[in-house]
Amino acid sequence: MPKCRIARPDLAPDGHRKIAWAWAAMPVLRLIHEKYGTSLPFRGITISACLHLEAKTACLLKVLKDLGANVAAAGSNPLSTQDDVCAALVEEGISVFSRRGMSSSEYIENLRAVMEFGPRILIDDGADLVALVHEEMPEIASGILGGSEETTTGIKRLKAMEKEGVLRFPMLAVNDAYSKFLFDNRYGTGQSVMDGLLRTTNSLLAGKLFVVAGYGWCGRGIATRAAGLGARVTVVEADPHRALEALMDGRDVRSMDEAAPLGDIFVTATGNLRVIRKEHLEKMKNGAILANAGHFNVEIDIPAIESLSVRRKVSRANIETFELADGRKLHLLAEGRLVNLAAADGHPIEIMDLSFALQLLSSLYILEHPDLPARVLRVPEDLDRSVSELKIESLGIRLETLTDEQRAYLASWKE
Ligand code: ADE
Repeated sequence: MPKCRIARPDLAPDGHRKIAWAWAAMPVLRLIHEKYGTSLPFRGITISACLHLEAKTACLLKVLKDLGANVAAAGSNPLSTQDDVCAALVEEGISVFSRRGMSSSEYIENLRAVMEFGPRILIDDGADLVALVHEEMPEIASGILGGSEETTTGIKRLKAMEKEGVLRFPMLAVNDAYSKFLFDNRYGTGQSVMDGLLRTTNSLLAGKLFVVAGYGWCGRGIATRAAGLGARVTVVEADPHRALEALMDGRDVRSMDEAAPLGDIFVTATGNLRVIRKEHLEKMKNGAILANAGHFNVEIDIPAIESLSVRRKVSRANIETFELADGRKLHLLAEGRLVNLAAADGHPIEIMDLSFALQLLSSLYILEHPDLPARVLRVPEDLDRSVSELKIESLGIRLETLTDEQRAYLASWKE
C-alpha cells in the first residue's frame, strides 16, 4: 500500500464506482491516455498535487500514474474531499493525504506530506502547495521543474509572487487557457453552483431575486444558469466593463448595499474577501440564503454573521441557520466554502475532462521544457487548441477547413 493518510479505506468500492462513472464520460483524457500509454513519459517522475479529491480528479491522477508518474495528492479544500474516492485512489497505488472535514492544521500537514515526496512537477488548485514550498520548504523548490495552476485565485497569488520576485519555478496558468475558462469557469461553475444550491436547499429558483457578486467568467455562468431557471438576477460588480456587460446581458446591476435588502439568494464569485459584510447582513430579508462559489471561504464574512446571531443550528446537511437578535434567520450553505464542491460533486464530468486534459498536457510540457523561466506562463496556444480539437474529435464533429485563398486573405493587409 502506498504511504497515505485517509479516513475510510473501507469505502474504496464506492470510490471505484464513482471513478468508473466519470471515466466513461472523459473522452479527451482517454485519448491522451491512449496516445502516451505505452511510452510512459513520466517514468521516474514524482508529481505532487493539491486538488479537489473527487472522482474526476481521480481520473487525472490515475492517468498520471499509468503514464509512469509516482503520484502524491492532497485535498485542496477540507469539504471537497470525498473519502470513498481517496480510498479507491490508495488502492490504485496513489499516495493520498486528505479527509473530508479535516482541520486547518491537518490540511497544512497534508500539503507538507505530499511535498516530502520531493516532486519534480506540481499540480495546484489555489496555489497553496506553491505558497507552502516557498514559505516553508525552499530546499525542495530547487528540484521542481515547474507546475500548473487550475484556478483564478491561484493565478492571482502566483502573479503576486512573480511581482515580488520570489517565484522560484515556472507555473503554467491553466486557468487562463481558452479551453479552460470558456468552459470550466463559465459553464462548469454555472451548472455546478446550481447543483450545490438545489441539492442543498431543494428551493425553487423561479421568481426569486438571485444576487451574484462578481461578473467574471464564473459569475457570468452562475447568472446565466440562475436566469435560465427563472430567477431574477442582480449583479454586484466593482469593475465598470463587467458591470456594463452584466447590464447588456439583461441583468440588474446594483451595489451590495442596495442588493442586500432585496435578495433571496446570494452567491459570491469575486475571488475577493468580505464581499458580504456586517452592514449587508444587517439589512437582509428573513430567510435569505448565502453561498460562496469562490475558491476561499473569505467572501462572506462569517465572523460577522456569528457576531450578529443569538442562535445557530444545522437545518439540513450543508445548511447552517443563524438566528439574529431581531428574529430574522439567515441560511449559510457549506460553511461559506465553495458550494459546488462542498455541497455537490464539482463541475460536470465533461467539463473537467477538458480542464484535466490541459493539466496533464501541461505536466508533459513542463517535463519536455526543463528550462522555462520562473514566471507565470500562458499555456502554449497549440497545446490549448489541441484540447478543444480532441474534444471536437471525440464528438465526431468536423471543423471547417480554410481554403488556401482564405488563409492568404487573413494574412494580408491589402484589399
Ligand atoms: N472537480 C475537481 N476540481 C474541480 C475544480 N477546480 N472546480 C470544480 N470541480 C472540480
